[in-house]
Amino acid sequence: MRRSTKTLAAVGALGAFGAAVYWRRNPSACPYRGRFALDVPRPIITRSRLVRLLAPEPGERLLEIGPGTGHYTLPVASRLEPSGRLDALDLQRAMLRHARDRARAADGREIGFVQGDARALPYRDDAFDGASLVLVLGEVPDRTAALSELRRVVRPGGRLVVGELLPDPHMVPFGWLRKHAETAGFEFEDRIGGRAGYFARFRVPAESAGQESMG
Ligand SMILES: C[S@@+](CC[C@H](N)C(=O)[O-])C[C@H]1O[C@@H](n2cnc3c(N)ncnc32)[C@H](O)[C@@H]1O
Repeated sequence: MRRSTKTLAAVGALGAFGAAVYWRRNPSACPYRGRFALDVPRPIITRSRLVRLLAPEPGERLLEIGPGTGHYTLPVASRLEPSGRLDALDLQRAMLRHARDRARAADGREIGFVQGDARALPYRDDAFDGASLVLVLGEVPDRTAALSELRRVVRPGGRLVVGELLPDPHMVPFGWLRKHAETAGFEFEDRIGGRAGYFARFRVPAESAGQESMG
């Protein structure tokens, strides 16, 4: 086989493999074998923009849903020190192990890694000052359940930041997010980005009463 034909065949095989990993059952969690896609440089939804919109403060308790391999975990956790804490919850143990090892290698402390489902969060009402989820909501089969769980665990006055980016096949359009976040009890506050990708911040009204515990 000529060299150019071999190169084309290799690129084709890689593309087919990538597509098989990427375009999976919809919606479903990004498989651990597809984690390399999370290392691709990201325009728009950069770490510094997430930190700017989420504005973590020392002493706060924040929640990250779906940390995956931990792309945003340490930059947020390090801003909560010395007395704050980040809880990172993911459906997949392999992702949690990866994020935990990455945080340990960078001496990251005060991060609670928990295996769980965004649709039934294992936390009490009003437990968090804020929460974030990036490239996660579209993977959850019942997104509205996840939003109402987030509303339950974020205290009045607390915030929620959601990040989405194309070409993620599960991307949640901003219009859908705003409508359903407001239905869940959040108020829209700010957004960075546009149709190709965005971070959006919502807030729980300060005067709103906590919802009843789910048991
Ligand atoms: C595409 S990855 C994004 C990871 C990370 N946020 C990032 O931006 O690099 C989505 C992550 O959300 C997790 N996830 C998907 N559905 C979930 C659910 N229902 N509850 C908790 N985590 C979930 C997946 O296991 C995966 O780690």
